Amino acid sequence: MSGDAREIARRLLDGVGGGGPAAAAPPPPPAPPPPPRRGPGRQFADHPEVVTATARRAAVRSMAELTEMGNPLFLPRTGPNGPVIETAAGTLTNFSSYNYLGLAHDPRVVRAARDAVERYGASASASRIISGEIDLYQRLEQRLARLYDVGGAMITTSGYLTNAGVIGFLLGERDVAVCDALVHASVVSGTRWAGARRITFRHNDPGSLRSVLRMSRARFDRALVVIEGHYSMDGDIGRVGEIAAVAREYDCAVMVDEAHSLGVLGARGHGVREHFGLPGDAVDIWMGTLSKALGSTGGFVAGDADLIDALREMAPGVAQLTGGPAPAAAAAALAALDVLDAEPERLQRLWDNTRLFTVAVRARGLDLGMSEGTPICPVLVPGDAQVGFASALLLQGGIYAGPVAAPAVAAGEERLRFFLTSEHTEDQLTTAADRVADAVATATTLSDLAGDWTTPRET
Ligand SMILES: Cc1ncc(COP(=O)(O)O)c(C=O)c1O
Repeated sequence: MSGDAREIARRLLDGVGGGGPAAAAPPPPPAPPPPPRRGPGRQFADHPEVVTATARRAAVRSMAELTEMGNPLFLPRTGPNGPVIETAAGTLTNFSSYNYLGLAHDPRVVRAARDAVERYGASASASRIISGEIDLYQRLEQRLARLYDVGGAMITTSGYLTNAGVIGFLLGERDVAVCDALVHASVVSGTRWAGARRITFRHNDPGSLRSVLRMSRARFDRALVVIEGHYSMDGDIGRVGEIAAVAREYDCAVMVDEAHSLGVLGARGHGVREHFGLPGDAVDIWMGTLSKALGSTGGFVAGDADLIDALREMAPGVAQLTGGPAPAAAAAALAALDVLDAEPERLQRLWDNTRLFTVAVRARGLDLGMSEGTPICPVLVPGDAQVGFASALLLQGGIYAGPVAAPAVAAGEERLRFFLTSEHTEDQLTTAADRVADAVATATTLSDLAGDWTTPRET
């Protein structure tokens, strides 16, 4: 053994880096405590989300019992989701549906769904790639591709799964999704499926996007900027053109969620692309749902034909398994598009009603947050208890406007959300404006009692 080797051996025996006496070995880290035994049927009882949801339900229930005002959540109705609904809490003027144009219960849409059930059965009963394909799917997809002025479109069983599945399929671990801070939860799910990094930029702010991209773009392979055409919690319109221009400077793809935009924005209701007069390739991916203005159920994605074909064949969650919506859902959406084209007066009524209501609630001093006067009208009522109480008060007065609290919105930005439709009458709108002003005034005096209202009785 050479002198060098002997010296290395000695140092190894003495401990790394040691020249002198052997360093004392550090004590082993303490063993982690054993996991609690949860017992059969209770494995998720202490899951943080289960605990939170249970506490929230109990709080709402206790408030409903204390006030005898009824619980606005999971309130079953017995008929269509129109401007007036029959519920366990009585007959209500309804501001909680996405049925913007009344198409979900339009006789022509309902008839198309019924005909499709009779012809094709209740289910697609297979994946599209093997026996699940029907002409209705293709007709609807061609229609959507034309509407967005792109090479192809694909329909799916759900809007949520479309965001999750498409982003999950397209991005990977070396990629990044650069999301508007208020983008929908389904987009966040997609980035988790993908294992991609997610970075947010300030809501609807192209300057903030530029700063984020300047600092981070070089660290990633692909980057996908994700925004909404019409923001579902705030009722403001995505600055698609400006944001896409910034994204292009940094060689990013752009995806726009049109869930609340198709059937609502644009002169013919063709969405934010029509609203801003953009070409189809202004962004890479248009995503939307059949479940809102189109009065059906399911989702869609539209873009470059090769991209859509790849998604149709391979994207888990949207294309494989029974990836196409039920035949009745596709038929209903097609019929809804026909009505949208044939009756532009519906859109006119939707916006007339929106203007009337927005002016009325603003005149009553209510805070509409970032609303741009679109058919999604938020009325801010900060505080979990306060917004729940305001919603319950309205319910008692025959008006249904759902409360939205954290985590769906930031704490302190709780709100009632009013969805306006073409089917509301002037009287319904002005009555609602009066009642919401009263309810908010009463609910905001609750601040000192908040603890009492929110404490679940059981604990
Ligand atoms: C912006 C946005 N994207 C996606 C979705 C999911 O669509 P769906 O309800 O059709 O699954 C929603 C649903 O509310 C939404 O608001």
